[in-house]
Amino acid sequence: MIKKGNLLSEGKAKSLFETEKHEELMMVYRDDTSAFDGKKKEALKGKGEINNIFNAHIMDYLANNGVETHHLKTVSENESLVQRLDMLPVECVVRNIATGSICRRLGVEQGLNFEEPLFEFFLKDDDLGDPLINDNHIIAFKWGTEKEIETMKEKTLAINKLLCEKFSKAGLILVDYKVEFGRRGDEIILGDEFTPDGCRIWDQETGESLDKDRFRKDLGNVVESYQIVAHKLGISI
Ligand code: C5P
Repeated sequence: MIKKGNLLSEGKAKSLFETEKHEELMMVYRDDTSAFDGKKKEALKGKGEINNIFNAHIMDYLANNGVETHHLKTVSENESLVQRLDMLPVECVVRNIATGSICRRLGVEQGLNFEEPLFEFFLKDDDLGDPLINDNHIIAFKWGTEKEIETMKEKTLAINKLLCEKFSKAGLILVDYKVEFGRRGDEIILGDEFTPDGCRIWDQETGESLDKDRFRKDLGNVVESYQIVAHKLGISI
């Protein structure tokens, strides 16, 4: 059994603990679910467990296809061991179809299919509402270097290619998602998580949302929808 040490950070849906090894941390997936910068909150029974298993499956898939991640192994129903990274304070978002904040911000049509995936950076800052930023902001405020920006873009787009293909084969559309990266020495490694909490997934046939939009929009069956996605992707939960 791996013992948890000090609590390092507590996010809206996950907690991160130290372990006996300095370079390894324990990520605990909670049932807590939040939206609109924490203004809407609820605990959804079973979500932590599903997200833990879902994330492990996606991270393993990415690692097997050339995208190195911080994920080491799942250690319990809702806990995974990860490598310690020095996280960059930015979120990388890729959109294949226009919906969500881009439609509100730019007044563009919902459901527009982008010819090329659209990449955006956001600053991780709840008090500021995670504002949209560009490469120049990252450099000017020393949140990252030019090389790190390029690597994050390259890796985020490589992830998009791999996951769009995987989801499509399962009868699902990967509409958009958010990923985060961290430094390990001079390398940039995928950190945080990839779960239906941080992406939009639509059923290819019905167009139904099977992700956190169900929670944001009070559509119900949130955890059940995550289970449907997992099942379609062949993830046994
Ligand atoms: O809200 P927006 O349309 O910008 O979100 C784009 C994608 O990034 C969605 O899949 C959303 O779930 C994800 N996201 C996230 N965490 C945030 C912001 C966005 O997981 N803080």
